[in-house]
Amino acid sequence: MNRKVFFQTALAGIGVICAVGCESKADDMTPDSDVLDLTIQLDDARYKDLVKQGFYVVVENRVVVAHVQPSQYVAVSPKCTHEGTTLAYNAASKTFVCSLDQSRYDLTGKVVNGPATKPLTVYSVANDEKSNSLRIKG
Ligand code: FES
Repeated sequence: MNRKVFFQTALAGIGVICAVGCESKADDMTPDSDVLDLTIQLDDARYKDLVKQGFYVVVENRVVVAHVQPSQYVAVSPKCTHEGTTLAYNAASKTFVCSLDQSRYDLTGKVVNGPATKPLTVYSVANDEKSNSLRIKG
């Protein structure tokens, strides 16, 4: 076996191993743990819904930001800790909800309705009214 064939065979083997063993395990999703530090402008068309209380946006698929009360925002990790479905915000119940299996989380990220068992990561949100922006960190 020459060197080229050896590497092609080895890489194909790694691909098979990863296809079998690298998928995430249900019920073992952990909240996104990467450090977050981003600023969004509320006059940016992508985030204009956040100006209205009760609305939310998913920013860069890294955080869900909800406008929960006048000038008060809550930011949490965007993926359900059960199986990773992207969450939405429900203004009536003031919870983050998963459309797949109906898990719900309160504004502190705590699970209030399963099957999820692990909390969301909650990020700090600084509302700078002078620059009309939100800085989200955590
Ligand atoms: S993915 Fe199952 S409750 Fe969210």
